Amino acid sequence: MQNYGKFYQKSWEERINHISQNEKLTKEQIQILKNSAHNKSLGDTMIENYITDYSYPEGIAFHYLINNKRYLVPMVTEEPSVVAASSHGAAIIAKAGGFLAKTSERLMIGQIILESVEDSAKLIIEIQKLTKDLLVVADQAHPSLKKRGGGTRWLKTHILAEDLVVLNIAIDVQEAMGANMINTMLEAVAARLEAVLRQQVLMSILSNYATECLASTTCKIPYELLSKNGFAGEIIAQKIVQASRVAQLDTYRAATHNKGIMNGIDAVVMASGNDWRAIESGAHAYAARNGQYKGLSTWKISGDYLVGELEMPLPVGFIGGSIGIVPLVSLNQKLMKITSARELEQIIVSVGLAQNLAALLALVSEGIQKGHMRLQLKSLVIAAGANVAEEAVLVDKMLQADKRDIASAKKILTDYRKKDKNG
Ligand code: MEV
Repeated sequence: MQNYGKFYQKSWEERINHISQNEKLTKEQIQILKNSAHNKSLGDTMIENYITDYSYPEGIAFHYLINNKRYLVPMVTEEPSVVAASSHGAAIIAKAGGFLAKTSERLMIGQIILESVEDSAKLIIEIQKLTKDLLVVADQAHPSLKKRGGGTRWLKTHILAEDLVVLNIAIDVQEAMGANMINTMLEAVAARLEAVLRQQVLMSILSNYATECLASTTCKIPYELLSKNGFAGEIIAQKIVQASRVAQLDTYRAATHNKGIMNGIDAVVMASGNDWRAIESGAHAYAARNGQYKGLSTWKISGDYLVGELEMPLPVGFIGGSIGIVPLVSLNQKLMKITSARELEQIIVSVGLAQNLAALLALVSEGIQKGHMRLQLKSLVIAAGANVAEEAVLVDKMLQADKRDIASAKKILTDYRKKDKNG
């Protein structure tokens, strides 16, 4: 291992030189690092040991009609078909009248874990007596939140084990996701507990299981909008209901069902400058809330309609964190024409349901590969060296080919170029 001591103290140029020499990077590789470093000061502000920017493509999903308002939805993803599928699902739902989306209160839970507890029942009574005082301490640690109408809402305790007690504090974070605010408030409360009760604190941190910050959406699709590939809409609807049942019964399928939902959710969470790991962990914990991991969405038949529902924790922010400092995030907020975190939550949860509909529709009718095939072949021919002008022709040729791997893409490209040269 080469010596990278004090890398963080070096300037960007020094870091690039250092890593290039140590790792024996070629001129071309150094150029990739340099050319990709689009915003050095921003990168340096956001993370440590910054060297370059790793960029993801952003696309727009269309046809979103949510609570009678039309939205453009920016999506950031590396996966082909996600944006197209999203628009497709949204278009069907828009024709059916759109989504009806709602949000709960926006409370985040912060936890203080107390360890080496000698008498847990007694400690809980002591904490209950102190509750008012502890909430004041928390609010005083972040007075501006209280001024804006936010702040602590409640405090609950419970015993985890003989020697472990946990305090959960609910905090209204207003328009932010609030991780830093919450952690500051918790640490103030932890210090008070240590001082007043002489109680040892193991740690204080927000919980990503945001059960008090839920978003939900529903849609009601008449059968006729679902017919596909010669299948009647009613049959497709029944198959989607079966797929939804399977995701409630089988964890292997539930994980994939939810992955499809998160394809859409994460892409908008990223475009909106929010922490997708926080949303992922909360979503999966919520999927297992009744003791078994299940699909987050459900599809049922009601009358001559297919009715879809999705509810999940969506503690996203509209301000704070990287949101204010990444210019593209403000631009994406403008594209979505949103004015609050709640509106963003409603879009994101609806994207999750549209994404799920598109995936299930494809799976129960033509299978997923057909729809993905052109996009996958496009990636393959580009990986084989095709340029933009050659892309479409080569994808057509690959569709005719027996083998659809990189070697065959390279051969087809070479043959095509030879023919092109020879007229
Ligand atoms: C692929 O990224 C997502 C799907 O597997 C989701 C699903 O199976 O529901 C198509």
